[in-house]
Amino acid sequence: MCSCYPAAPRKAHRKKLLMKYAVRYHSNNGNTKAIAEVIASQLGVEAHSLDVPLPKHTEVLLIGGAIYALKLDKTLLNYFENLDPSLFNKLIIFSTSGGSIFETAARMPRVAQEHGFTVEDSCHILFGASGHKKLGLKGGKLNEKQIAEAKTFAEKIAAAYG
Ligand SMILES: Cc1cc2nc3c(=O)[nH]c(=O)nc-3n(C[C@H](O)[C@H](O)[C@H](O)COP(=O)(O)O)c2cc1C
Repeated sequence: MCSCYPAAPRKAHRKKLLMKYAVRYHSNNGNTKAIAEVIASQLGVEAHSLDVPLPKHTEVLLIGGAIYALKLDKTLLNYFENLDPSLFNKLIIFSTSGGSIFETAARMPRVAQEHGFTVEDSCHILFGASGHKKLGLKGGKLNEKQIAEAKTFAEKIAAAYG
């Protein structure tokens, strides 16, 4: 039997290279991580922090972050600066903050756009003082409303992208 040509990748291997969803987040105190985990679980994948490399190609990349002193964390800004657009087709943003003043919901999608990315959809979830690190409060404890918001958002994504 001639073996001049490399074998085509097996199905399971191809599936691994072409991921439908990838969820990445930056979270200083656990709130955004907890939201990322709800969203990822609804989409049937795992949520990872930004330092976990993306698969070779992802259909829909979801990136999460939070607002600190009216800005995004440097880690997240660096991520956008270095993010390779050939690794994914669609970008979706989710973010968290303490309050709704100062346009917090629009901030992260805007930063992504400023880095040249098209944002297909976004959601922003408010935490008030809950899990506010500066106040000595441990993050990551979601209430029912926050869980429902994250699930509804993920369901919307799943309905749009299959
Ligand atoms: C140092 C610090 C600064 C913050 N600044 C803001 C702010 O400017 N506006 C706001 O709405 N929330 C602010 N927050 C609240 C966070 O955005 C909120 O707790 C968020 O969910 C934190 O996400 P994380 O737990 O994933 O780090 C701040 C929190 C910290 C600890």
